[in-house]
Amino acid sequence: MELGAPYVRVRTGSDYWLYARLFSSSCPVGLVGDQVAGAVIAFRSQDDPSDVYVQDVVTHPDHRGRGVARKLLTAVRNRATEWGCAQLYLTSEPENTAAHAAWTSMGFVNLDGDILVDEVSVTRDFKGPGKDRAVYALNLG
Ligand SMILES: CC(C)(COP(=O)(O)OP(=O)(O)OC[C@H]1O[C@@H](n2cnc3c(N)ncnc32)[C@H](O)[C@@H]1OP(=O)(O)O)[C@@H](O)C(=O)NCCC(=O)NCCS
Repeated sequence: MELGAPYVRVRTGSDYWLYARLFSSSCPVGLVGDQVAGAVIAFRSQDDPSDVYVQDVVTHPDHRGRGVARKLLTAVRNRATEWGCAQLYLTSEPENTAAHAAWTSMGFVNLDGDILVDEVSVTRDFKGPGKDRAVYALNLG
């Protein structure tokens, strides 16, 4: 996961234990041979069970641009559809142009926020003071 820096912050081993033990059905890992090519961490909301929130998406630099993130997010999407959820949503940092290109090419819509940064709509303080984020949603209806 640390290969996702600077846009993904590595969490602790016990966090990854939690994801693997309690949330494995929405946290797929992609393998190419024995190497981890990518991973997605996503959760179904307990507050609004019609939502699945995608927390982290990382593709190993050696495997970028080969459809790994698309495949992993398709797996999460299929799981969310099985659960009867209405949407997947996620956020990224305004300057993360690769992420913006990836989400929009997969059908996510960049939701209207407060400001435009290089044509990306950004919601101020979405994740707390100073943590502006571009928010994207994929409707499963
Ligand atoms: C963003 C990231 C996950 C994309 O993963 P990936 O496996 O390379 O993406 P895919 O190969 O599945 O590409 C999916 C689509 O996104 C597009 N895309 C991916 N990277 C792109 C880039 N750097 N520039 C332009 N488009 C890009 C692809 O062209 C593809 O669209 P297409 O199928 O219409 O051609 C990867 O760049 C990454 O790990 N970045 C570092 C961590 C990060 O920023 N994660 C997101 C945090 S919010």
